[in-house]
Amino acid sequence: MASFKTKISGTGKYHPTKVMTNFDFEKLMDTNDQWITERTGIKERRIAKPEETTVSMSTAAAKMAITEAGIDPNEIDMILFQVTMPDQFFPNSASFLQEALGITNKCACLDINAACSGYLYGFTIADSLIKNGIYKNILLIGAEKTSAFNGFKDRNTAVLFGDAAGATLLSRAERSESSEVLGTILGSDSSKKDSLAMPNGGAASPITKEIIERGEEKLVVMNGQVVFKTAVKTMAQYSAELLEKSGLGLDGLDWFIPHQANLRIIEAVAQMVNCPANKIISNVDKYANTSSASIPVTINEAVASGKIKRGDTILMTAFGAGLTSAGVLIRY
Ligand code: ACO
Repeated sequence: MASFKTKISGTGKYHPTKVMTNFDFEKLMDTNDQWITERTGIKERRIAKPEETTVSMSTAAAKMAITEAGIDPNEIDMILFQVTMPDQFFPNSASFLQEALGITNKCACLDINAACSGYLYGFTIADSLIKNGIYKNILLIGAEKTSAFNGFKDRNTAVLFGDAAGATLLSRAERSESSEVLGTILGSDSSKKDSLAMPNGGAASPITKEIIERGEEKLVVMNGQVVFKTAVKTMAQYSAELLEKSGLGLDGLDWFIPHQANLRIIEAVAQMVNCPANKIISNVDKYANTSSASIPVTINEAVASGKIKRGDTILMTAFGAGLTSAGVLIRY
């Protein structure tokens, strides 16, 4: 069996320009900047306009990644599109993106959904396809128009989310390059699946007049404390395991990029794995929780600012509805 190494060859992001601050929420519901800042570290988030969709946001992010990689879009063998709530149920978002990017080579198009962990699930799938010599270039998207499922009514969940798209081009590395995937872990604890869910809108519970009258068509059900505790425990466990199994240890790690859901979760995980603050990359204050877009957006910003350099080691970890969890350790 062929064995190749995977590298990140390009990164991109898109954020809507409309900023919604914690003070804007104060006008909508019984909340305040101090509560949101203290509990989550979030100060503001971006909200898409009606014409901005997950596909349009991803198109902008993907173009950045393709330009950075310096390849022709027709060299892409597969589009792997993580989205929790797609613009429409079918055809899949990846097919829409293929058209928007002008790709005519009939490459494979697949949507996946592991919620906020989905980008790292996609990373793992893409790595195995590249490693085994099946594909050379895979465009991985994490994109979420969370405002489409944010009812902006329930203060427990409304303040947490923001809209964004992140794109990463994963490519076969040359033998001489140091870039590689050092380890991945995926998992899910379905016994806690009801602690974060959107019950309505699928085939089991289509939106009815009664659901709309009860104002539940965009109802997100969340037990914040169960999600918080599980997230911290699992992300810390995956991080420690990846650092140990790779032989890298904490000293060999340059950057830690956890899913940007909540600053307290990020800090708690970092504390459990003894990761110093100067290795953590976070932007949750500016963008809130953009679900599966949060890690690819953070990587793009850190590469663009010159923080992340070729050869650096990066530990990424995430959790999301399911409750899914994931960890990926790479040499960039
Ligand atoms: N403004 C003011 N008060 C609020 C708000 C708000 N926006 N939201 C909740 N409260 C109140 C509640 O009504 C409750 O009041 P009560 O005590 O009178 O009943 C109180 O604040 C809740 O306090 P705590 O339970 O102590 O809040 P906690 O410290 O647990 O923080 C939070 C809540 C921020 C939701 C936290 O549990 C958390 O971050 N959990 C993880 C959530 C998460 O990350 N979800 C998404 C993950 S998956 C994904 O990314 C899709």
